[in-house]
Amino acid sequence: MSINTVGIIGSGTMGLGIAQVCAQAGKKVVLVKATPGDIERPRGKFVGSLDKAVERGKMEAALRDTIIANITFTDQEEAVADCDLVVESVIEDIEIKKALFNRLEGICRADAILGTNTSTLSVTAMMAVCQHRDRVAGLHFFNPAPVMSLVEIVHGFETSDATLKALNAFCKEIGKAPVLVQDTTGFIVNRLLTPYMLNAIRMLERGTGTIETIDQAMMTGAGLPMGPFALADYIGLDVVIAMSQNIYEDVREGHHAPPHTLVRLVQLGYLGRKTGKGFYDYSAKPPVGNPALVHPVI
Ligand code: 3HC
Repeated sequence: MSINTVGIIGSGTMGLGIAQVCAQAGKKVVLVKATPGDIERPRGKFVGSLDKAVERGKMEAALRDTIIANITFTDQEEAVADCDLVVESVIEDIEIKKALFNRLEGICRADAILGTNTSTLSVTAMMAVCQHRDRVAGLHFFNPAPVMSLVEIVHGFETSDATLKALNAFCKEIGKAPVLVQDTTGFIVNRLLTPYMLNAIRMLERGTGTIETIDQAMMTGAGLPMGPFALADYIGLDVVIAMSQNIYEDVREGHHAPPHTLVRLVQLGYLGRKTGKGFYDYSAKPPVGNPALVHPVI
């Protein structure tokens, strides 16, 4: 089966990024805002970021226009009825995702593939609420989606070979490098990356180093593009804590539970870049470590 039209449910960072990748590769995209609110907000954000790329000479104006022309923005889930593939990228809440899969089965064609961009939740749990379970799979993109080549194709318990093959071909068509992974909490990347970020936070709490020194050490000593605190802020601390909770829930090993400092930052609404403050304070230029965390919390 070839995939030419893609429905994306959720217009957050990942939903918009996935939409860009697909539209840029010539796919027709229907982007659905999943929560109530003005559709012009995500649309404006999306167009604004493409405009900025054009202004900075990173993108041809013609490509921007093609991308925009290939995407229909809507707040109506029913608009994905004719899509060959629908990818959900809504909040990391299994009950919300299960209810969405249930509704999508009623909306989509019987041969459409239903994918989830979940970071750590069970694809099989979402599949379980569906009648046609063979066409459900994980399709996990990485942030920023237009830049990161990896897509984890997640094999749920009853995902068919035909679905996996179609997704593999689709990923290649949109310029991504897919890997196949079994449905285990966190798949490959987040299962390794989440404990790494949690360990860095515990290192900060022990006073081993500061936010800046730990980040700098991992960049210059391990050759990473960002240190663990910059990365956590970039991903979003609400997402990092959800990943930690989901992995902990699965394995029940204490070192996977969210550290104290992460819990406190999320309680305060300091979610990283998107709120202007997390481990770093982005209102300062250049960003500095959150003053509340300069002295180790424990
Ligand atoms: N959209 C499109 N392009 C972008 C972009 C975006 N949001 N952000 C950066 N870029 C492009 C830039 O235009 C630039 O392109 P060019 O090389 O053609 O000029 C290139 O990416 C590099 O960007 P910058 O020079 O502005 O900045 P950096 O060199 O610092 O790179 C970064 C930024 C790509 C974010 C880099 O720091 C990086 O790779 N960081 C690690 C990101 C990472 O690990 N992501 C995975 C997180 S885990 C995840 O997503 C899973 C989820 O389930 C939680």
